[in-house]
Amino acid sequence: MFKELIKYTGKPALYAKGTANFWDDQHMSKQLLKAHLNPNWDAASRKPATIDKTVAWVNDNYLTAGSRVLDLGCGPGLYAERLARLGHSVTGVDFSKRSIEYARESSQEQGLAIEYVYKNYLEIDYHEQFDLVLLVYCDLGALVDVDRDLLLQKIHAAIKPGGVFIFDVFTDDFSATVVEKQSWELTDDGFWAEGAHCVLEQSFHYPEEKVLLSQSILMRADGTHDLYRIYDHYYGEADLTKVLNASGFTGHRFFYDVIGETDFASQKVVFTATHK
Ligand SMILES: C[S@@+](CC[C@H](N)C(=O)[O-])C[C@H]1O[C@@H](n2cnc3c(N)ncnc32)[C@H](O)[C@@H]1O
Repeated sequence: MFKELIKYTGKPALYAKGTANFWDDQHMSKQLLKAHLNPNWDAASRKPATIDKTVAWVNDNYLTAGSRVLDLGCGPGLYAERLARLGHSVTGVDFSKRSIEYARESSQEQGLAIEYVYKNYLEIDYHEQFDLVLLVYCDLGALVDVDRDLLLQKIHAAIKPGGVFIFDVFTDDFSATVVEKQSWELTDDGFWAEGAHCVLEQSFHYPEEKVLLSQSILMRADGTHDLYRIYDHYYGEADLTKVLNASGFTGHRFFYDVIGETDFASQKVVFTATHK
């Protein structure tokens, strides 16, 4: 086991995968749902006031009454519900079973007719059905370039002619906050696992490719272990323009004041609105 752990602690090749799915893992998804719903924590979803602000901005600038909206990586439906309450027809897609189940129950309780789909958004297959596609909380930057380009193609296909795609990514300024570091925690219970466990957390920077890797090596008391890797690609406007042009989008506009102040690194983000 230690040989494997020692191997994990060295800087990996960019985009080398972990051993577990952070979002849909049985234990992690429970913790993540709590994080999404915690109104005082900007971790998995932004705080309610910030979400309100983003939804109002999207609605006022990009939607007309009864628009069709596709929310990719919708999580527990925090944006989808607000958009549905404004009268839009919303489809949410996410590959966290726990989040989708929560979102379905919550929409039913509130009498909101939102369609939720449990699916990897890299496998969506819509054709010119939506006025607006939303991908919020820096999800595009978590993707390897080939998957990002595949997703952009699928989003382009899903949007009606003249429709819009809105997403956010970390900006170049984010790199100034990046420090390669490592820390460890030994605990009886916590975010990463139930019962006693040890977690080694490390971050690695790949400045040429503009990517930060945050990795957590979880060692459980029963001797099993898992490796979680989350990549964040940050972008400047020129990078975004190149990537979006290549996927057929036009008229990109960049916005830096959509979320306002937050107490998280997520402050260094740019929202992009781009058209088909
Ligand atoms: C950072 S959270 C943001 C959730 C939501 N957009 C929000 O801001 O409240 C990312 C979400 O994307 C989902 N996700 C990540 N990769 C996905 C994929 N390939 N297919 C579907 N959902 C994905 C995760 O399960 C998670 O719910």
